[in-house]
Amino acid sequence: MNEFTFYNPTKLIFGEGQVEQLKELVPQYGKKVLLVYGGGSIKRNGLYDQVVGILNDIDAEVFELDGVEPNPRLSTVRRGVEICKENDIDFLLAVGGGSVIDCTKAVAAGAKYDGDAWDLVTKKAVASEAIPFGTVLTLAATGSEMNAGSVITNWETNEKYGWGSPAVFPQFSILDPKNTFTVPKDHTIYGMVDMMTHVFEQYFNDATNTPLQDRMCEAVLNTVIETAPKLIDDLENYELRETILYSGTIALNGMLQMGYRGDWASHNIEHAVSAVYDIPHAGGLAILFPNWMKHNLKVNPARFAQLAERVFDVDPAGKSEEEVALEGIEKLREFWTSIGAPSRLADYDIDDSQLNLMADKAVINGEFGNFNKLNKEDVLSILRASL
Ligand code: NZQ
Ligand code: ZN
Repeated sequence: MNEFTFYNPTKLIFGEGQVEQLKELVPQYGKKVLLVYGGGSIKRNGLYDQVVGILNDIDAEVFELDGVEPNPRLSTVRRGVEICKENDIDFLLAVGGGSVIDCTKAVAAGAKYDGDAWDLVTKKAVASEAIPFGTVLTLAATGSEMNAGSVITNWETNEKYGWGSPAVFPQFSILDPKNTFTVPKDHTIYGMVDMMTHVFEQYFNDATNTPLQDRMCEAVLNTVIETAPKLIDDLENYELRETILYSGTIALNGMLQMGYRGDWASHNIEHAVSAVYDIPHAGGLAILFPNWMKHNLKVNPARFAQLAERVFDVDPAGKSEEEVALEGIEKLREFWTSIGAPSRLADYDIDDSQLNLMADKAVINGEFGNFNKLNKEDVLSILRASL
């Protein structure tokens, strides 16, 4: 293991009906609340009325930032920062999926910064403070509800970057599995793919002696693999939604990643792809990740073989380590296909015309990846294999 410090101050509130806790939580931060939400799903499923009802009951003055896009855009962040600065907002409440939460993080930090919020995303400036915010999560996927990361897209320049700061941990996050019942099948699938890739990004690391971390990662993967096929046929099953909701948070709240650095190269490549094509984040990952795995198999075949045996039940008898590893990667692809995830860029009508542009975007800050450093040629090779 490497040395580590674990820090996660987010209060996690989990279970049916817990949104009522907003009554006690919000007044701790002030009266002027900016409610942040997406394209309308919370209006259709009744959560908006419920949350606004609670905010009215506690006499909060409510402002709204609506229409946050999937793959949230800088233009919306800027709109939110303006509302905060003009109205002296005390607290932000994100009600939605990862995009709404990521946007809220950028608004919260942007409002405490004198320049443009894009400086924080591009790391030209450090987000040292933020307006406090909480979340009511409606989609199991990103882990943003309990981490200090955020991903923002500048659609004018086709750039999408992740950034983070301890200042943007949510104060609290409320997770009620019932609030995820209306997530459509496709986004339910994407969410489960996303959380699995978060585990993979961490599992493929360059540290030694991580037996407990490995088992924790494998436990999350096995749980998602066991639950996913049942959930896609039974979208309003409380227990299945509960299991997946908890898995998504555990996958990326720092619990799995003590003692090593994750890889995160596939996420970087995916961000370059969706900066150009605006495809769902996890759709891109489902396509790219198995090809990243094949590309890097020789870096540490034993690690891939361990995953194949413990998670994909590959029988190693009579096979070389590399054969076991490859069979595991094939089984991952088969599993994702079986639940309805895409497997080729062509599934999103993406051809080879912009490969160079995407590869350039991926290496804009130089070589990347901690398990194995990738350069532009590596990225092009993974993208070509994904066509
Ligand atoms: O906008 P609305 O109308 O709310 O609809 C959303 C959106 O269309 C819908 N949805 C959400 N909850 C729903 C629902 N529909 C019905 N019922 C509900 N209960 O689902 C669609 C997708 O929502 P989005 O928030 O975009 O999905 P997700 O949570 O997967 O977030 C994706 C974003 O997170 C970033 C991605 O890059 C992408 O921009 N990521 C953030 C991370 C982080 N902060 O740690 C890590 C991730 O790896 C990821 O990169
Ligand atoms: Zn992700």
